[in-house]
Amino acid sequence: MVYELTFESVARLDLLTADIDEILKTSRARNGQNGITGCLVYYNRRFIQILEGDQLVLQELYKKIEKDNRHRQVRIIAENPVVKRTFPECGMMYFPLDASNVSRSELEQFRRNLRLLADFSKPESVSSILFWVKVKSLLAEPPGFPL
Ligand SMILES: Cc1cc2nc3c(=O)[nH]c(=O)nc-3n(C[C@H](O)[C@H](O)[C@H](O)COP(=O)(O)O)c2cc1C
Repeated sequence: MVYELTFESVARLDLLTADIDEILKTSRARNGQNGITGCLVYYNRRFIQILEGDQLVLQELYKKIEKDNRHRQVRIIAENPVVKRTFPECGMMYFPLDASNVSRSELEQFRRNLRLLADFSKPESVSSILFWVKVKSLLAEPPGFPL
């Protein structure tokens, strides 16, 4: 049985693009080895991530993520077993976006693409439904929204 977990968090204030790249690099490498798939979104200094895989493996990973000092206010939104994965194709699909580092048009494109993906996805579990609800409400914020 596959297990899914969705969480949100706030990036540490002085987090740099290089730190995000490092998180992605580790995630991609490790998740592949651990049979974990999912999607990580970073926007306006907030992370939203859905993780899916074996329950024990996933809970061990979440314990590490929770203690990671690159973010704070780490909070589980939902976790539940699922019949099938929502993101089966990818080790980790990610949408990192550091608004301070991209042009206005790139930023708009990112928001448009992610909204489109949210509209076309047909989530079947509580964790994946809430993942997209959270992503959409985050994207509704203008870039640079103060915390
Ligand atoms: C927002 C966020 C998401 C993360 N997602 C993952 C992930 O999907 N997979 C992963 O292995 N590590 C992820 N990490 C990194 C872990 O917290 C941890 O640094 C990593 O698993 C390496 O841990 P270890 O060296 O103690 O084994 C994430 C960290 C943050 C801040």
